[in-house]
Amino acid sequence: TRTTVGIVGGGPAGLLLARLLHRAGVDCVVLESRDRAYVEQRQRAGILEQGTVDALRACGAADRLDREGLVHDGVELRWDRRGHRIDFPSLTGGRKVWVYAQTEVVKDLIALQLADGAPLLFEAQVTAVTGADTGRPVVHYRHEGVERTLECDYVVGCDGFHGVVRQAIPDGELRTFERVYPYSWFGILADVPPSCDELIYAHSPRGFALHSMRSPTVSRLYLQVPNGTDPAAWTDEQIWDELEARFAIDGDWKLERGPITQKAVLPMRSFVTEPMRWGRVLLAGDAAHIVPPTGAKGLNLAASDVIVLARAFTALARTGSTAELDAYSDTCLRRVWRAEHFSWFMTTTLHTAPGQSEFDTRLQLSQLDRIASSPHAAAELAENYAGLPVF
Ligand code: FAD
Ligand code: DHB
Repeated sequence: TRTTVGIVGGGPAGLLLARLLHRAGVDCVVLESRDRAYVEQRQRAGILEQGTVDALRACGAADRLDREGLVHDGVELRWDRRGHRIDFPSLTGGRKVWVYAQTEVVKDLIALQLADGAPLLFEAQVTAVTGADTGRPVVHYRHEGVERTLECDYVVGCDGFHGVVRQAIPDGELRTFERVYPYSWFGILADVPPSCDELIYAHSPRGFALHSMRSPTVSRLYLQVPNGTDPAAWTDEQIWDELEARFAIDGDWKLERGPITQKAVLPMRSFVTEPMRWGRVLLAGDAAHIVPPTGAKGLNLAASDVIVLARAFTALARTGSTAELDAYSDTCLRRVWRAEHFSWFMTTTLHTAPGQSEFDTRLQLSQLDRIASSPHAAAELAENYAGLPVF
């Protein structure tokens, strides 16, 4: 079979790209290695920026988001046993964020695509992409026990950090930049109403903690833990005790406890591939870059990549010009590096590295005090958190 755009990976990047292309009349096929239930239940990000929400609305994928998503006008930072709220709209000219889980975005996009979109194949494992430097790259995949090929004008790797499309680009053509962090996040999902109206990012002598949520009845919380931590080594009571200690402030605030329904430990990494295109193969989302999760940029960055890419393919279909496609990598990388910086900044300002010196801790606290005392410093955080405009 043949198509214009072969999309490898049916995560948020691949699914949103397919939706945007379908709306623009550009044909494409999505190949996803996992089954539908797995993709729809994989617990990951929870915060959508204005630009991501705008894109979902523009392609008709925001009905449920507009009904069930929680609009947040700010976040709270905690350190030194006190809290400070950052107000997004007043600091950013009206921008805000939405709490709506990645699982729900993925469910909504899959339902639309299966109803009226481009072909989406589950359990289609891509094994290789060949001919990246020819006019017709080919995607090789296995589906229902049969080896198949998909001939494309362009192939887009939306197959995540461990994907295969990046490997279709010869060694020496790409540069990669990487930083691995000496701590991980222990994430839990709990059946208990959130103990806050807005997210809380806490710096504490015991390490970082984050209070997020999935709905008015489900809380999502994270603890900084050493790399290699086994989630099974912590009892539920130990997890709640540790969270309580890290969120503690002077004054009356209480962390409500409830049944923990999921536990997982995730490592943290910064990673960028340059350029994000070689020949007729393009990379988008986690396949091209990874950020540590502090600051909630991963999913939003995947969305902004494919917004740019969909525009470029649309321009090519309408005018025959490859100018936007040729600019894709440079256009995206400017935004990628900004998000890399912000995610690194949030991570290193709020976490305590093993063996961290008192000097470094003082620098962190000084920076947090600066954010609390200067509208300029607060605005810098708010603009990046709520999301820079998608071009
Ligand atoms: P992915 O969501 O990784 O999608 C890639 C898709 O490609 C997958 O469905 C995969 O099955 C498929 N695929 C892979 N290889 C192949 C192949 N060979 N053939 C066919 N299909 C293939 N971000 C936040 O902002 N906050 C968070 O709390 C947060 N938590 C995270 C937790 C984890 C464990 C991970 C891994 C990421 C987390 N992120 C978080 C980041 C965010 O979820 C990602 O940035 C986002 O999922 C990127 O979307 P994507 O579509 O580019 O990649
Ligand atoms: C969530 C994850 C993040 O990385 C973050 O910064 C905020 C919220 C979440 O999963 O809800």
